[in-house]
Amino acid sequence: MNIEEAKEKFTALVEAQLDRIAALKAEGDFVDYKNKDHIIIGVCGGDGIGPSITHQAERILRYLLKDDIESGRIEIRDIEGLTIERRAAELAAVPPAVLEEIKKCDVILKGPTTTPRKGDEWPNVESANVALRKELDLFANVRPVKIPELGIDWMFYRENTEGGYAIGKEGVTINDDLCIDFTVATQPGCDRIIRAAFENAKANGRTRVTAVTKANIIKTTDGRFLDTFYKIAEEYPDIQADDWYIDIMTAKLLDEARRRDFQVVVLPNLYGDIITDEAAEIQGGVGTAGSANIGKKYAMFEAIHGSAPRMVKEGREIYADPSSIIKAAAMLLNHIGYQEKAEKLERALYICSTEEKKVVLTGRSTGATSEEYADYIMDTVSKL
Ligand code: IPM
Ligand code: MG
Repeated sequence: MNIEEAKEKFTALVEAQLDRIAALKAEGDFVDYKNKDHIIIGVCGGDGIGPSITHQAERILRYLLKDDIESGRIEIRDIEGLTIERRAAELAAVPPAVLEEIKKCDVILKGPTTTPRKGDEWPNVESANVALRKELDLFANVRPVKIPELGIDWMFYRENTEGGYAIGKEGVTINDDLCIDFTVATQPGCDRIIRAAFENAKANGRTRVTAVTKANIIKTTDGRFLDTFYKIAEEYPDIQADDWYIDIMTAKLLDEARRRDFQVVVLPNLYGDIITDEAAEIQGGVGTAGSANIGKKYAMFEAIHGSAPRMVKEGREIYADPSSIIKAAAMLLNHIGYQEKAEKLERALYICSTEEKKVVLTGRSTGATSEEYADYIMDTVSKL
């Protein structure tokens, strides 16, 4: 690419972002699920162990929502086709017909999907996760990490549509020696994620919100994020606001004397990606965490681990651990207004995985199947 071509490309990228900002400014408020008389939950199994574990989470949802499914208030819909085979055949991150079905739902429960990478057997289509977050404008990636015995109760609000991810595949290679990528921050994009973090703190009696950036180096975009953070913080005088740089924050999550003091943490996309894996690992592994992707109109709840193709190859998918997708299902229940059921499910997950461990998963035939584990969870819920 010569400089003139690069300029042209840059102009087009800027124009697309300005259009996106106009759309953000025109968007409405969050859906009020409490007052909605028909809610459609779409279920996408995804790839690898996805269909198997997602099916177990769906059984639990059907069990907990039985009455409202019978009355017709809740509808659970299986959505076929969000598979790597179909995405590869159509060369689409999300096949258009599948996206259309997804958009007819209110919320989505989604199993892990394969993200092609250089050198594997798949064409280099964009990650389905990233594409869905952008298509459905799911700007808040909400990832809780709780370790009661260590006094840890963290709530991460990761910006989910901007930063390095907004136009991550649109970087330019000028010549053999020079490549440039872009990172994006918009004012409405910063406003809405930061406000969502403070609102979460306020609604849950949390007293501290922490911003994490690298604004000392990435001065323009992270600088805007941080300035916006302190401006919005003024609207919440009862909540303590502070900020850390990402490097020292990754260290502080390991600092036993300080880490339990963090409560709500809000951060740009890439830092959020990295630090939520670290936090999940502290909790017991990335497979133990749930993840909610929330927008004003849609929301999507997913397991944060991968699709474990090796387990499927070895015929072990019936032994896969469904905990992460079940945790995502609990977040889904909470989001659509079933707080009590969500809390019960979370408690049952904790009892089954930590306190009682009457049924144990080993990932192979030496342990329980995911179905037996889901039965154990439902049995535990029924006693709460
Ligand atoms: C996550 C994942 C995704 C991301 C990948 C699979 C594209 O790491 O949800 O954190 O980078 O956001
Ligand atoms: Mg990640």
